Amino acid sequence: MVNDYGDFVQAIKRKTAIDLSLYKEAQMKRRLTALYEKKGYSSFHDYYKVISSDEKQMAEFLDRMTINVSEFYRNYKRWEVLETNILPRLIKGKRTLKVWSAACSTGEEPYTLAMLLSKYLPLTSLDILATDLDGNALQRARHAIYPERSLAEVPPEIKQKYFTAEGSLYKVDDRIKQVVTFKKQNLLADPFDAEFDLIVCRNVMIYFTEEAKDSLYKKFNASLIKEGVFFVGSTEQIFNPGQYGFQSEDTFFYKKV
Ligand SMILES: C[S@@+](CC[C@H](N)C(=O)[O-])C[C@H]1O[C@@H](n2cnc3c(N)ncnc32)[C@H](O)[C@@H]1O
Repeated sequence: MVNDYGDFVQAIKRKTAIDLSLYKEAQMKRRLTALYEKKGYSSFHDYYKVISSDEKQMAEFLDRMTINVSEFYRNYKRWEVLETNILPRLIKGKRTLKVWSAACSTGEEPYTLAMLLSKYLPLTSLDILATDLDGNALQRARHAIYPERSLAEVPPEIKQKYFTAEGSLYKVDDRIKQVVTFKKQNLLADPFDAEFDLIVCRNVMIYFTEEAKDSLYKKFNASLIKEGVFFVGSTEQIFNPGQYGFQSEDTFFYKKV
C-alpha cells in the first residue's frame, strides 16, 4: 500500500487529535510497524481497524507511541547545574516560583524539581505544573510509587527525607506530592499557560519534526517571564536560540531575553 502510513496518520488525527505527522516519521513508523507485526497484522490499514474499535488496543497503541522512560534526577549533572548556576539568579528576591514540567511522563521529573527547590524555598510556596499527553502515565505519576531503579540518581539525604520504602517500592512523600499539579495536555495542539519562571521540557523534543520544534520553542518562550529559564534534555540543545528569543545561560539552559 503506497500511502499506508499517511492514511493511518490522518485517521489517528481524526480519532484522537494526535498528529503523528509532527513526529519524526522514520522513527515512529519503525516503532509502530514493530508493534503491529508483533500482534500479527501486516499493514497500518489493518492495524487501524483494530485499534479504532477496541479501547484496550488503542490504549496499547498510545502507550507505544509515547515513550515514557524517566527517572528521578535523570542526568544528575544537569540538575547540579540548575541548582548551582541557574537557581540562585532565578530565586533572587522571590518568595514563589512558577514551574512547568512539560511532557512529565510518570512524574519523576516534577517530583525531582519539588525536592530540589525545597532546599531553597518553602514547599508551600512552590507551584509546579506537570503535563503529559499520556493519561496512563499521569495516573502513575499521581500514584507516586516507584521501583528502586527509578531512584538510582537520588542523593541519599533526599531519598531519606522524601521517600518511604514499601517492600521493594518507594513512595514519594505527601509534602512533595502536594505541590505538583498533573494535567493532561498535548504540547502540539493545546494552549500553554503563561508567566513561568522555569520550564523543563526534556527528552520529548527529539521525537518531533523540525517544524514542530520550531513552533514549540516560540510557544515556550512566550510562556516564560522575562529572564525565565527553559531547561532542555541532554541531546536537545537549541541550534540557534536567538531566533526564538533565547540566550544560552549554560549548556541545556536558555534564558528568555
Ligand atoms: C521519554 S518521556 C520524558 C519524560 C521526562 N521529561 C524525562 O526527561 O525523564 C517522553 C514523554 O513525552 C510525552 N509526549 C509525547 N508526545 C507528547 C505531546 N505531543 N504532548 C505532550 N507530551 C507528549 C510522552 O507521553 C512521554 O511521557
